[in-house]
Amino acid sequence: MRSADRYAVFGHPIGHSQSPRIHAVFAGQTGQAIRYTAQDVPAGQFRDCLDRFVEGGGKGLNCTVPLKELAWRAADKTSERAERAKAVNTLAVRESGELFGDNTDGLGLVRDLADNLDIPLAGRGILLLGAGGASRGILQPLLAEGPSRLVIANRTQAKADALALEFADLGAVEARGFADLAGEPFDLILNATSASLDGDLPPLPAGILSAGGACYDLAYGSRPTAFVRWGAEAGAGVSVDGIGMLVEQAAEAFFIWRGVRPQTRPVIDLLNAERGLKR
Ligand code: ATR
Repeated sequence: MRSADRYAVFGHPIGHSQSPRIHAVFAGQTGQAIRYTAQDVPAGQFRDCLDRFVEGGGKGLNCTVPLKELAWRAADKTSERAERAKAVNTLAVRESGELFGDNTDGLGLVRDLADNLDIPLAGRGILLLGAGGASRGILQPLLAEGPSRLVIANRTQAKADALALEFADLGAVEARGFADLAGEPFDLILNATSASLDGDLPPLPAGILSAGGACYDLAYGSRPTAFVRWGAEAGAGVSVDGIGMLVEQAAEAFFIWRGVRPQTRPVIDLLNAERGLKR
């Protein structure tokens, strides 16, 4: 019998990663013989660990914080969306040994919004909070949906300006500081700052969410994040964290590796039920 193909997620820290469980469920659903593990890899050890993984016959990797940019640099070939993101979260080892790098984060977000949450993006006004790696990673797939406008707001406005300029060829992107958002309502507010991870919140003025608009935090945790709670208090029709994006980006990675699309909804439901959350 052929042994299971090997996959892994590299990151640091990695202890709480849900990816091994998610891929185990996908493999069970689709009858694919894979083994997927989590490996703690600090940035300084990335190249060595990657080489060892490939030499050992590994077929594919997910890379998370703080390795996405290193993974982008390590790839022999990359997708257009990975080039735009300047980050790779999925590496596939081709038959030839070539490393193909892709970034499934933005598509994962768009799928969760459009397919799971029924939040339309075309023709809508979107506010994106943060101008770091998480924002860069999702801008191309978001703009491809054709929002009426996309405003990037950041604590350090110069970073939002630079990011808006970099993506201006793909759609209507503007940059602002948080203080300049007052009185400007958006249909969807996405939080891509790392503030949530510290239980913190960007300084958001009142009146920036349309009645019944949606709030989405790219971060997630065992409880609703500060931004998810802010959204609920601001009257959002939907205010959720990024667990669905996590599952959707994993499903797209699984598809890249195995050519089979797993079902995401049962996995999202499972992870929410475990956290005592409903969608
Ligand atoms: P990531 O890869 O998670 O995006 P990053 O590249 O370090 O991480 O970017 C973090 C983002 O969160 C930045 O936009 C940062 O704002 P600055 O560019 O002004 O530093 C934002 N951020 C972090 N903590 C924040 C806080 N407490 N309030 C508002 N924005 C915050």
